[in-house]
Amino acid sequence: MGSLKIENIRKSFGNVDVLKGIDLDVEDGEFVIFVGPSGCGKSTLLRVIAGLEDATSGDILIDGKRVNNTPPAKRGIAMVFQTYALYPHLSVRDNMGLGLKQAGTPTEEIKERTKVASSMLSLEEYMERRPAELSGGQRQRVAIGRAIVREPKVFLFDEPLSNLDASLRTQMRLEFMELHRELGTTVVYVTHDQAEAMTLASDIVVLRNGHVEQTGSPLEIFGRPRNRFVASFVGSPSMNMIEGTLEAADAAGARVVVGGGTRITIPVDARRSAPGTPVTVGLRPEHLDGHANGAGRAAAGDNGGAGGANSGTAVLNATVVAVVGGIVAWLGKGRFEAIDRRFEAVDRRFDRLEARLDDRIDSLGARLDAMRSDLTQVALAVGVRPRAEND
Ligand SMILES: Nc1ncnc2c1ncn2[C@@H]1O[C@H](COP(=O)(O)OP(=O)(O)O)[C@@H](O)[C@H]1O
Ligand SMILES: [Mg+2]
Repeated sequence: MGSLKIENIRKSFGNVDVLKGIDLDVEDGEFVIFVGPSGCGKSTLLRVIAGLEDATSGDILIDGKRVNNTPPAKRGIAMVFQTYALYPHLSVRDNMGLGLKQAGTPTEEIKERTKVASSMLSLEEYMERRPAELSGGQRQRVAIGRAIVREPKVFLFDEPLSNLDASLRTQMRLEFMELHRELGTTVVYVTHDQAEAMTLASDIVVLRNGHVEQTGSPLEIFGRPRNRFVASFVGSPSMNMIEGTLEAADAAGARVVVGGGTRITIPVDARRSAPGTPVTVGLRPEHLDGHANGAGRAAAGDNGGAGGANSGTAVLNATVVAVVGGIVAWLGKGRFEAIDRRFEAVDRRFDRLEARLDDRIDSLGARLDAMRSDLTQVALAVGVRPRAEND
């Protein structure tokens, strides 16, 4: 068992409030990931859970038991840091077993647990080496091994992969997944790596400035961000934010005017917002790539007869966030249709060219008429009968 409950946790350093009332419910076996901008309080929250910092107020419960006054070693928690924090003069084996030894665990049991952990982490060959003789990835594995042998109820990881290069991070990510499946232990994990959060988490907690902005599964956070901050923070590359104005809203949809006068119809119920309300249409790059071209072509093809080539319609998936008087409100997610602006632009150019040609033909015609009348006058003056137009 390893459930974790956090109730209205506040933490201040002097007069600086770092955690401003955090509530969180982590069920046994979950893999919860904290994300948020640097300095938002992720590490502080983890340290408070571990007992390395005392909360200013609020409660921490592990398996339903309040642990505020329980020392870190007795909380059933193991923490892994970004910097590994291994003892340089100890072998891998001794680094992994030290905590157990200090807790008075029998030697045989230390040996057994170390063996299991080292095999899980493919460290068997390196057990007699010192940290300096290992690569970064191997050192981090040792730090994880040291946590595993303690058989904690909850693992805390603070950016454990940040010091590794990109390809190793990807590999370690898979190993974390495997490890979690194998052990089934509750994990609370901090990262600033979007891919890590999206692939590992059963739940993501988005923090900002000492507050929880949203908690939810990766898909919920990605597809139904509660506010503009979450919408733009989660996702890489991040969501496009298109500013516009709500023109009309009925049960069927919202019509939004965006830059350049383009109208976008979004099938969400935005009736609680008055026409004229500033609105932000959030568009994930993934949705543009995945649907705009294909759907645009399909729609243009479907309308081929009626609309012709210059009435292409792009059907896009959009995440819509409305800003109503400074308060951000979620409107929903839906397909939205926009007239393809490239077609409009080409259309406008044709119109302009046509108009210029018309002007030119008109002026040439006028000049021709003038010359003809001049010729007639000259002809009359010299006494010649002017030629008829069709001669
Ligand atoms: N021991 C401390 N004393 C004073 N301020 C601290 C201390 N630890 C952290 N802070 C401050 O708390 C804020 C949150 O820090 P931290 O939890 O490390 O953020 P994160 O891990 O999200 O980047 C930062 O502004 C940091 O300067
Ligand atoms: Mg941190």
